[in-house]
Amino acid sequence: MKTETITGTKETAQKDFLPLQGTDYVEFYTGNAKQAAHFYMSAFGFQALAYAGPETGTRDKVSYVLRQNKLTFVLTTALRTDNAIADHVYDHGDGVKVLALRVDDAESAWYETTKRGGKSFMEPKHLKDEHGEVVMSGIHTYGETVHLFIERKNYNGPFMPGYQAWSNPYFQPSDTGLLYVDHCVGNVGWNQMNPRVKFYEEVMGFRNIISFDDKDISTEYSALMSKVMSNGNGYVKFPINEPAEGKKKSQVEEYLEFYNGEGVQHVALATHNIVQTVTELRNRGVEFLKVPSNYYDTLPGRIGKIDEDLAPLKELGILVDRDDEGYLLQVFSKPIQDRPTLFFEIIQRKGAKSFGKGNFKALFEALEREQEARGNL
Ligand code: FE2
Repeated sequence: MKTETITGTKETAQKDFLPLQGTDYVEFYTGNAKQAAHFYMSAFGFQALAYAGPETGTRDKVSYVLRQNKLTFVLTTALRTDNAIADHVYDHGDGVKVLALRVDDAESAWYETTKRGGKSFMEPKHLKDEHGEVVMSGIHTYGETVHLFIERKNYNGPFMPGYQAWSNPYFQPSDTGLLYVDHCVGNVGWNQMNPRVKFYEEVMGFRNIISFDDKDISTEYSALMSKVMSNGNGYVKFPINEPAEGKKKSQVEEYLEFYNGEGVQHVALATHNIVQTVTELRNRGVEFLKVPSNYYDTLPGRIGKIDEDLAPLKELGILVDRDDEGYLLQVFSKPIQDRPTLFFEIIQRKGAKSFGKGNFKALFEALEREQEARGNL
């Protein structure tokens, strides 16, 4: 049943020129960061952590920093027109601008990637305050998305210089069990997947660990192709999707049209208890895609024995897939802004290191029903 190609899983003897310790934060450019921060706190269970704005000496933008376990989200809005953040929101709507990666040496990360052809977004910058020093640098990736390299080993403040601690004494929502970023998926244009794979291989030293062709990821109507890129230690995984020819418009094309270019399609957030997490998220108003209930009729035969009861999985629309190493449970939110662009995946891995290939068809049919309702299929 498993036809996906998994390659290059053996550690190479070569030294990793870009050692990454994981995702440091995800920054969203939004139309209204104050309200977006409230949404992520009330609906997703994040806590207030830090703030930057005119009160902290930042004149042209505000940023709210939220945290839940190892997840850090930054919500940023421009305070003026004629500003790169305002232009980004005008062009793309709300979306992910920065996938920030934790490094031990941000200067070396910048030199190693730019000398291999990475286009600089930010030369190494040393930021200091009374809590110590953060060094950051960055390069461009697909569309207007960037990777920042964050070195914070000599810093013990709330977030980074320029930010002050922020909390709301009246509103401390409880956690929903979201733990860390499992993977972040990028949508790129026609014929752009392989060049982007090459970028991650050559510029960032990633490996292609899984490939899906359009036969793996197609429904009666639409198709896409995907390659999963992983860094050396597997802490950072970036699947890259491109549209493929089908009878109707691919979900990736709908994204590219509404995001007005390439960008982050979904961020997968890990939990140790998906039933509890999704119950909490639903109770707080987060909407998820639903697969037809007959998906669950054939599930035990396909998946074998799992620890969870089927009834709550069915009730919450949680999907299950198995690979050689174990199984995983996953569910996908509806888009979390007005444009049909960015959404979240909630994932619980029980040994499986794959991405739910067995669920693609059911999932994409569910996505197509939404796409059709929007008149975009
Ligand atoms: Fe995913």
